Amino acid sequence: MAERVKVGIIGSQFQGDIHAASFQIMPEEAEVVAVCSPTPGHAAEMARKYGIPRVFLDYREMLREKDIEMVTIAAPNTLHCAMTVDIARAGKHVVCEKPLCMTLDEADEMIDVCRREGVLLLYAEELLFTPKYVKAKEMADHGAFGKLYLVKQSEKHFGPHSAWFWDVERSGGGVFMDMGCHSIAFCYWFFDRSPIKSVTCHMGTYVHGAKTRGEDDSICVLEFANGGVGLVENSWAKRGGMDDRTEIYGEGGVSYPNLHMGNAMPTYSEYGYGYAVEKAPSTKGWSYPVFDELWNYGSPHEMRHFARCVRGKEKPRSTGEDGRVVMEALYAGYASAGQGRKIELPFRPEGVKRPIDLWLDQAVPKK
Ligand SMILES: NC(=O)c1ccc[n+]([C@@H]2O[C@H](COP(=O)([O-])OP(=O)(O)OC[C@H]3O[C@@H](n4cnc5c(N)ncnc54)[C@H](O)[C@@H]3O)[C@@H](O)[C@H]2O)c1
Repeated sequence: MAERVKVGIIGSQFQGDIHAASFQIMPEEAEVVAVCSPTPGHAAEMARKYGIPRVFLDYREMLREKDIEMVTIAAPNTLHCAMTVDIARAGKHVVCEKPLCMTLDEADEMIDVCRREGVLLLYAEELLFTPKYVKAKEMADHGAFGKLYLVKQSEKHFGPHSAWFWDVERSGGGVFMDMGCHSIAFCYWFFDRSPIKSVTCHMGTYVHGAKTRGEDDSICVLEFANGGVGLVENSWAKRGGMDDRTEIYGEGGVSYPNLHMGNAMPTYSEYGYGYAVEKAPSTKGWSYPVFDELWNYGSPHEMRHFARCVRGKEKPRSTGEDGRVVMEALYAGYASAGQGRKIELPFRPEGVKRPIDLWLDQAVPKK
């Protein structure tokens, strides 16, 4: 039996914690041996929580550890590309959080460096591993819905937990970039990676204008080469906690997998009770607590799969190339919203620093 894959995690807050918890939930293929984070004390705290033996302030020091084979990036979007280059050059496999990076130039650089160094670039898009959605895809592959014509995917909540998401210089965009990337990847996967032909998008900042220049709500239509249509809706303006749902329409059937509701218990409490679901502001009154939240998202299945890819036991199901497809659709979506028209792909404008600039630079200023 090959040894478990030794993993280092970059980042110790929201998603870094989810990575560590996920490896612990499905521990048979991988073990986390190191964590790093530049804020003194943070990585140490996460190490204590999960029994991780090594702690670093600088990720480059962690990359010198010879036994580490795979490194997961759970740091802000602006850092994904530089970190990937450093990890690949250290000869380690890369798991990169969504969105893949800030620009198509960065996406190409990440893909190239990993290819040159002979390491995997694994794109952490957990919706491709979400048990309920995997079941829906298996049913579609079995012909349950006949020929698919429409896939709707939507992820919404009232906005992210850390300041950098709201600062478009550091995030690259608002909710379309942050959560639209999930929904685009999902539709692309569900339509068997048929190329995206065009993108039409509308977006606005409706609720959080005092806090961000980023859009807090977006609606986007993707046309696929196989004739299918993706309808992607995302929001940071929706109250009441996380909502993630899909609708699948084919000539022969339909399915409405709702990630949270099917797993939740409609609950009323006069007094509140602690934790219900990601980003729910309160547990008083009506709430919808989920059980096994990470399991239902598919994060443990995703990390287990990535470790198995490192051992050659499985072929990567979500790659840097997938992340690049999503990035191109993000560019096209922002440009579409900015110009008020459908954008055909391939779409590769020059000199883009942040996807959102393709919208902000065109948008008519508010009166
Ligand atoms: N898959 C998902 O559903 C999901 C959910 C949340 C976040 N994410 C993604 O994960 C990434 C991290 O987001 P988050 O929510 O954990 O953010 P966060 O703000 O909670 O944590 C960011 C972490 O990055 C670390 N960091 C910052 N600069 C660093 C540096 N130079 N070197 C090493 N570490 C550094 C911080 O110390 C912190 O630990 C983002 O790309 C985000 O889009 C994905």
